[in-house]
Amino acid sequence: MCGIVGYAGPRDCSEVLVSTLTNLEYRGYDSAGIAVFDEKNIIETVKSEGKLSNLKNKLETLGKPEGHIGIGHTRWATHGEPSDVNSHPHSAPRVTIVHNGIIENYQELKEFLTGKGKTFISETDTEVVAQLLDYYYDGDPITTIDKVMGEVTGSFALGIMFAEFPDRIYAVRRESPLIVGVADGESFIASDVTAILQYTKNYYLLEHDEIATLTRDSVSFVDKYLNPIEKELKVADWDREAAQKAGYPHFMIKEINEQPTAISTTVNPRIRGGLPNLDECGLTLDILKDLKSITVVACGTAMHAGMVGKYVIEDIARVPVNVDIASEFRYRNPIIGEGDLVIIISQSGETADSLAALRLSKQRGAKVLAIVNAKGSSIAREADMVIYTLAGPEIAVASTKAYITQISVMYLFAFELALAKGTVSTAECKRLTSALQKMPEAVKYVIESVDEICQYVGSKLITADSLLYIGRGLDYALSMEGSLKLKEVSYIHSESYAAGELKHGTISLIDDEMPVIAVATQSDLIEKTISNVVEVKSRGAKVILVCTDSCANKIKDGIADYKIIIPHIDELLMPITAVLPLQILAYYTSVNRGNNPDQPRNLAKSVTVE
Ligand code: M6R
Repeated sequence: MCGIVGYAGPRDCSEVLVSTLTNLEYRGYDSAGIAVFDEKNIIETVKSEGKLSNLKNKLETLGKPEGHIGIGHTRWATHGEPSDVNSHPHSAPRVTIVHNGIIENYQELKEFLTGKGKTFISETDTEVVAQLLDYYYDGDPITTIDKVMGEVTGSFALGIMFAEFPDRIYAVRRESPLIVGVADGESFIASDVTAILQYTKNYYLLEHDEIATLTRDSVSFVDKYLNPIEKELKVADWDREAAQKAGYPHFMIKEINEQPTAISTTVNPRIRGGLPNLDECGLTLDILKDLKSITVVACGTAMHAGMVGKYVIEDIARVPVNVDIASEFRYRNPIIGEGDLVIIISQSGETADSLAALRLSKQRGAKVLAIVNAKGSSIAREADMVIYTLAGPEIAVASTKAYITQISVMYLFAFELALAKGTVSTAECKRLTSALQKMPEAVKYVIESVDEICQYVGSKLITADSLLYIGRGLDYALSMEGSLKLKEVSYIHSESYAAGELKHGTISLIDDEMPVIAVATQSDLIEKTISNVVEVKSRGAKVILVCTDSCANKIKDGIADYKIIIPHIDELLMPITAVLPLQILAYYTSVNRGNNPDQPRNLAKSVTVE
């Protein structure tokens, strides 16, 4: 997703812009650029298709703009292919801008401006906004921005420089996130706070349609009626080190290794007297005991965390759970209303479809609980109740530690719900809670013990064109996540299938070129899953079996080509450890194929547009 940065202060602006853009690389992008007021107060723009290294080379070859105020951008192409000309910043005679998001009515505005004699050099919606700002420019940047905000529709964030005001930059947003950072004698804008952690932890959250003005030593805000406003200064509780690789070759493997800490940080503060306690968000036992059904809405990995939650909640709390993909839910006229609980799960808290699902649920009278990692994000702020996953910043596009904390919260929720419903005794709830608290040690052990075999199996998968993941029950919910992880970082096609569904069509795909990864951690389902493994094996598939040590004893030799064995723990909690070999396998397969697992092609970390 596009990343915006901006700087006003004493430092070399080009350097600050490039370093803050580097911190946003994880969001995914295909071109980058900067614009800086030079020593003569002229705006100099340098941009380049491809990675930031291309931009850096260009800055070295052409000479970087020397100045102290400027804006920068990493672009994830939507309108027009990745190219130098479509890269941001975009300029009109008196305005230069960077933009994240989508201007929905840009065609209409483009026709209007073309009729007024304006010409365009790029295919982007961004250039239309630059020209519109220039068209309405009345000598006052704030009233000009306000006029343009009244004309454009969509969800977007903008960083703006006006040629006549070389001492400042402006920022405005609608839906897409944007923060304003402050330090002594300098100020910043950024799409998220991780971009500026090396300079400051102090920041303001810009709200919809508010306009910020930043100079070296001041920041000021007006609301959408152009009244000056005071905003609450926030302090990021993520530090710079958390957003750096710390000696690991990639963020993905660093974040996999951070999972023990992520679980304990998320789980421990929510346990009192040996029992889960989610009072912090307003979920009391009284509210929980009246719940009739639950709908979980999310996208991608977060939706897969919801699937694990469904199996666990239905199993122990006996409350029906419907799990929905946010992009389907929002357009499906869902049956949601007063008395219903909708749980929105999101790492970024900014996913456009999940946010829309939240708003729709609230409109219809449902109560919304958000399970979110990014503090102060739109989903966290708009939900009725929030439980934060305390995973710290997740930089790799492929979600790992966020997923494990999302399912940890689903367990806490399920245990407390089961207690409220009386479907488990206090003693049983305490036993489950204590088992959950021991997960960090188990996770640490599994990460270390499966590394070598995952590396080896990963090396065998590099030539595969397509793979199948199978499992039953919780193992099926988990195999969905395993399959997504592999395909997003290795670019090998893969699907997950409920093992019992294979015979109803998909087994026709099986031959000796289609490896099958079978997850079998549930003892009551092991025989069924193994019979599906035998079926695919006899049709030529190479089988990789992920199973527990106790299940492994029940499986005859020769049934699987490779076994990845993990210790048997409470079976309800198995997804917490069984996901690890799937994550690690995806990681090594990606690396073995020469990919960068942190920035998979075509993907963005946070999908803030539809
Ligand atoms: O920020 P969110 O959790 O709302 O993001 C949802 C998905 O886009 C995300 O989980 C995506 O599927 C991950 N890249 C998968 O690893």
